[in-house]
Amino acid sequence: MRTLTGIQPSGILHLGNYLGAMQPAIAAQEGGNCFYFIADYHSMTSLTDPAKRREYTRGVALDWLACGLDPKKAVLWRQSDVPEVCELAWMLGTLAPMGLLERAHSYKDKTARGIAANVGLFTYPVLMAADILLFDTTHVPVGRDQKQHVEMTRDMAIKFNLTYGETFVIPDSVIRDESAVVPGLDGQKMSKSYGNTLELFGDEKATRKKIMGIPMDSRTPAEPKPDADQNIAIRLLKVVAEPGYAREMEERLRAGGLGYGDLKKALFEQVWDHFAAARARRAELVADAGHVDQVLRDGAERARAIAATVLDRARRACGLR
Ligand code: ADP
Ligand code: TRP
Repeated sequence: MRTLTGIQPSGILHLGNYLGAMQPAIAAQEGGNCFYFIADYHSMTSLTDPAKRREYTRGVALDWLACGLDPKKAVLWRQSDVPEVCELAWMLGTLAPMGLLERAHSYKDKTARGIAANVGLFTYPVLMAADILLFDTTHVPVGRDQKQHVEMTRDMAIKFNLTYGETFVIPDSVIRDESAVVPGLDGQKMSKSYGNTLELFGDEKATRKKIMGIPMDSRTPAEPKPDADQNIAIRLLKVVAEPGYAREMEERLRAGGLGYGDLKKALFEQVWDHFAAARARRAELVADAGHVDQVLRDGAERARAIAATVLDRARRACGLR
């Protein structure tokens, strides 16, 4: 069993990234054999500011460590420090049918939103397949939006194995029902690209302001709210608070008597407290810049050793060696 996931340094990480990908990944590290990376090559499909890429890359590394990634138990590296992945992406791309990539939801969503497609965006799932297959990965913790990409990875691995003989392990996505799609402040999926996020380590004032600004309807506090389970603050409480507490707030809202202001205040406190320990750890890490660099260097070295053996296997299989 080997667990692997990646997060792009394309912005500041938010609650959806944490609950969909980081928290399950960190929980898995106790079992060992865990590989987590910062997908900086992928970020080039949407971000063209070099200073921002450097800043976000560092931010994602700090966030992983602050949230509990333990470099003694899990390997953390920057994708571009293991450039072997690009060679494998080339090999896989030669077997990936155009139609497979044309059906990718994430590509279709982005182009439908008017984002001009570049070739990198189109072939993004091929690079992602290479990330996963290069490490003989069995489990990929992700949010639901990435499920199809993991299925495409399986398709590419199966096709390679059929064409060139057994080479790759076939991976599975690991998606937790309760946090498969964390809602954003506007009720759509929380996403860096929709401007509806709650940042993991935003400052107190800004976080409070964002939460207090969540739009609600005009019903009075006393009115019963039979649709309490649809309320965004309740949906967010369900993913950050103790289940019993979230249920109690939902019941109070449903029965009438709980005002939206009080509900949002409660949500702010839960969010703020949830990350209190991680926030303190992050502040220590920021002050110790050398440590983060060292973790990424060591991680790259360990990742590269595995990548080299799998790439060699793939090259031999297809006759490049
Ligand atoms: P974004 O959509 O904000 O750009 P990414 O695509 O970089 O986020 O996602 C990184 C990881 O976080 C992926 O595993 C993705 O599935 C997960 N993720 C992102 N947003 C959410 C969300 N709202 N709910 C659950 N998981 C999410
Ligand atoms: N595509 C993922 C996202 O945007 C990031 C990613 C790149 C990834 N390579 C990966 C996730 C490999 C899991 C495994 O969220």
